[in-house]
Amino acid sequence: MVLDALIKIKNDIDPTLTFRRSCREGICGSCAMNIDGTNGLACLTKISSNETTMVTPLPHMFVVKDLVVDMTNFYNQYKSVEPWLKRKSSIPVNGKEIVQSKKDRAKLDGMYECILCACCSTSCPSYWWNPESYLGPAALLHANRWIMDSRDEYTKERLDAVNDEFKLYRCHTILNCARACPKGLNPGKQIQNIKSLQS
Ligand code: SF4
Ligand code: SF4
Ligand code: FES
Repeated sequence: MVLDALIKIKNDIDPTLTFRRSCREGICGSCAMNIDGTNGLACLTKISSNETTMVTPLPHMFVVKDLVVDMTNFYNQYKSVEPWLKRKSSIPVNGKEIVQSKKDRAKLDGMYECILCACCSTSCPSYWWNPESYLGPAALLHANRWIMDSRDEYTKERLDAVNDEFKLYRCHTILNCARACPKGLNPGKQIQNIKSLQS
């Protein structure tokens, strides 16, 4: 994998080479970078048979060092969609769960698997041009994940919070995001769902 090559370079050639990695199996999302022109996870991308491989930081992000980009804006946008369960009625006590049917649970498929690697947002032309005002595919996928959760009681407020010309409607359904996602998710489809639920 490309990550093995980077580790080899760091160990044997240039110890100053800087990149993020942790799980080396596509779970932590930290090794996201651009490899031969395509965003992906270095730990899941095979070294190509080409003579050379071009590895660059995630596009249109501020670079901290080498392959490490500043994720502050990306994480703040994720935080802005309040990615946690919100209730108006009281939380059940006595150890009881807030039940969810299998059918309602299945509505979260295609969203809960996101590892926040930012491959999608940093491949989205709309995000390149408006990285601070457009929330981007990853944050909007998570907004929809909570809008669709049957246990959450702030659906309308969540829809209102993203109902904005820039936050939501900068998505023009080009679907670069779906092509870039290493987990096979389709953020563009989730964004369409948010738009369709706006009254
Ligand atoms: S579908 Fe929307 S979010 Fe995805 S790449 Fe296109 S503009 Fe960006
Ligand atoms: S939707 Fe896919 S590409 Fe985007 S942050 Fe989540 S896992 Fe990464
Ligand atoms: S090292 Fe965790 S996703 Fe690549």
